[in-house]
Amino acid sequence: MMNSFWLRPAYQKHSRGTKWLKLNKTLTITTRVLLFLFFFALLLVSVLIFGGWINLGNYSAGKFFDRTPILPPPEFPLDCVAWDHNKTCPNNYPIKYEPTNHHPSSTCPDYFRWIHEDLKHWKGTGVTRDMVERARESAHFRLVILHGKVYVEKFVESIPNRESFTMWGILQLLRLYPGRLPDLELMFDNDDRPVIASKDYRGPNAAAPPLFRYCSDQWNLDIVFPDWTFWGWPETNIKPWRSILKDIKEGNNKTKWRDRVPYAYWRGNPDVASWRGDLMTCNVTDKDDWNTHLYVQNWEEEVRTGFKQSNIADQCTHRYKIYIEGYGWSVSEKYIFACDSPVLLMTPPRFHDFFIRGMVPQRHYWPVKDNDKCRSLKFAVEYGNNHTEKAEEIGAAGSHFIHEDMKMEYVYDYIFHLLNEYGKLLKFKPTIPPNAIEFCAESVACPAEEIWRKSMEESLEKSPRNMLPCTLPPSYDLDELKALNDEKFMLTKQVEKWENEYWKNNLTKNQ
Ligand SMILES: *[C@@H]1O[C@H](CO)[C@@H](O)[C@H](O)[C@H]1NC(C)=O
Ligand SMILES: *[C@@H]1O[C@H](CO)[C@@H](O)[C@H](O)[C@H]1NC(C)=O
Ligand SMILES: *[C@@H]1O[C@H](CO)[C@@H](O)[C@H](O)[C@H]1NC(C)=O
Ligand SMILES: *[C@@H]1O[C@H](CO)[C@@H](O)[C@H](O)[C@H]1NC(C)=O
Ligand SMILES: *[C@@H]1O[C@H](CO)[C@@H](O)[C@H](O)[C@H]1NC(C)=O
Repeated sequence: MMNSFWLRPAYQKHSRGTKWLKLNKTLTITTRVLLFLFFFALLLVSVLIFGGWINLGNYSAGKFFDRTPILPPPEFPLDCVAWDHNKTCPNNYPIKYEPTNHHPSSTCPDYFRWIHEDLKHWKGTGVTRDMVERARESAHFRLVILHGKVYVEKFVESIPNRESFTMWGILQLLRLYPGRLPDLELMFDNDDRPVIASKDYRGPNAAAPPLFRYCSDQWNLDIVFPDWTFWGWPETNIKPWRSILKDIKEGNNKTKWRDRVPYAYWRGNPDVASWRGDLMTCNVTDKDDWNTHLYVQNWEEEVRTGFKQSNIADQCTHRYKIYIEGYGWSVSEKYIFACDSPVLLMTPPRFHDFFIRGMVPQRHYWPVKDNDKCRSLKFAVEYGNNHTEKAEEIGAAGSHFIHEDMKMEYVYDYIFHLLNEYGKLLKFKPTIPPNAIEFCAESVACPAEEIWRKSMEESLEKSPRNMLPCTLPPSYDLDELKALNDEKFMLTKQVEKWENEYWKNNLTKNQ
C-alpha cells in the first residue's frame, strides 16, 4: 500500500482513459514485485550491518559509523580427547592474539597502584636468578612462562587444590591474553602467612627473594596474588567468582537493606585463631545484647547436608556483616563485602590481600576495634541504625567496589599487570627447569575428579579477550601514599572517638 502511495503522483500525471487503466494494472504488479525485492534487499543489508557482519567502515566512502566489526572470537573448549590420548598438551590454542577492538582501554581501578608498592623492593636491583632460587626454600612450586607456554616444577605438596586452582587461574589468564606476558620465572607459596621478613633485607644491596602468595603484612615483603577461590572452591560449595557474584546480586535484590535483620552477622570457624574465639563471646544471650548474631560453621554437618546452611548467596540477611581474619587473611572477605550491608571490619587488620588496601574506612567499611570487640560492635550497629542513610551508603560503596572494581575481568587484569611488571624486573633469561612439566588447561582439568572438573569448566576462558587489559595507573609518590595512610588513620580514629564518647556517656548515665 505504501508503494502505490509513493508512486501515485507519477501515474496521475499520465492518467488518461481506460487504456491507461489496463497499463496501470500491469505496471503496478511489476513494480510491486520489484519493490518487494528492493525492500527485501534493503532489509537484508540493514540486518547484516546491524548484526555486525558487514562493516560499514570498509564500504562507505565517508565513515558514518566508526564501528569495529564484532568478529565472533574463536572458541577453544577443553580437548580432553587429545589429552587422554597422548597425555600431552594439545597445541591448538593460539599463543598470540591481536584484539581487533583497538579502543583505548580504560584505566584500572586505584588499588592496582599497590602492584608498584609490592615490587618496589626490587625496582633498583632487578630480580636475579640467585634471588629467585633463594625463595625456593618455602615455595610450593616454581612457575615458568616461556614463549607463552607454562611450565611448573613442584617442590612439596600444599593444602589440596590451592595449587591446582591457582595454576588453573594463571592458565586462564594466558588463554585470555595469549602471548602478551613476557617470559618469566617465579616462586609461589600456597600457605597462609607471609615469611619474607623485611627486617632481614635492609639496605640497597639486600637481595630479598621475591615470593608470591595470597597475603602479606606490613612486616613482610611477600608479593600478594589473588587467592585460588576466584576459580571456585568446590570442597566448600563455593562457585567461581563470576557465578557467585551473579547469585549474590540476585539475592541482594530480594531483601532491601532496610528490611534486613538490624544486627551484625558472622558465620565461620572460630577455632582457627584466638581472635575469632574472642569474637564468639559477643554473641547475643539472655543477659547481654551486643547486637550480633554469630554462628559456628560446622563443617562435617555442612558436608553431610550439602552446604544448605552455608550457601554464601543466602547470607545477606542482616544489615551488618562482620569481617574477622582467620589464621591469615580470610577468603570470606570478598563474599562478606558483596552483600550491600556495611562491613564491620576488625581493625587494625593484621594481613592484607590484593584489594583491601584500596578500601577506605567510613567509605567502604566501618572499623571496629579488635581489642574491644563486643562494645565496638554494639556501638557500630546502634550507630548504623541511628544513621541509616550513611550505613546504607557504606554498604553500597563496599559492595560496588567488589561487584565492579573486582569483577573477574579486573582480577585477571590485576594478575596480568602484576606478572608483567614482575617480568620486566627479571635480570636473567628464564629456562625450562629439568624437573618441570608443561601445564595447560587440559593437563589440569582432564584428570581432575568430577567436582573439581565442574568448577574448572565453569571458570574456563574459552577464547582470547578481544580487548587489551586496562591501563595500569602510576605508582604513588611518597606524599600521596602518606596522605592516603593519614586519611585512613584519621577516619578510623574518628570512629574510635565517637565510640569512646558513647561508652563514657553510657557509663555515667548508668551510675
Ligand atoms: C598425539 O601426538 C602426536 C604427536 O605429538 C600428534 O601428531 C597427534 O595429533 C596427537 N593426537 C591427538 C589425538 O591429539
Ligand atoms: C532486581 O530487581 C528489579 C525489579 O525488582 C529487576 O528489574 C532487576 O532485573 C533485578 N536485578 C537483578 C540483578 O536481579
Ligand atoms: C548465637 O546466638 C544465636 C541466637 O541465640 C544462636 O542461634 C547461635 O547458635 C549462637 N551462636 C553460638 C556460636 O553460640
Ligand atoms: C542512637 O539514638 C538513641 C536515641 O536517640 C541514643 O540514645 C543513642 O545514644 C544513639 N546511639 C548511637 C550509637 O548513636
Ligand atoms: C548502656 O549500656 C548497657 C549495657 O550494654 C545497655 O543495656 C544500655 O541500653 C545502654 N544505655 C544507653 C543509654 O545506651
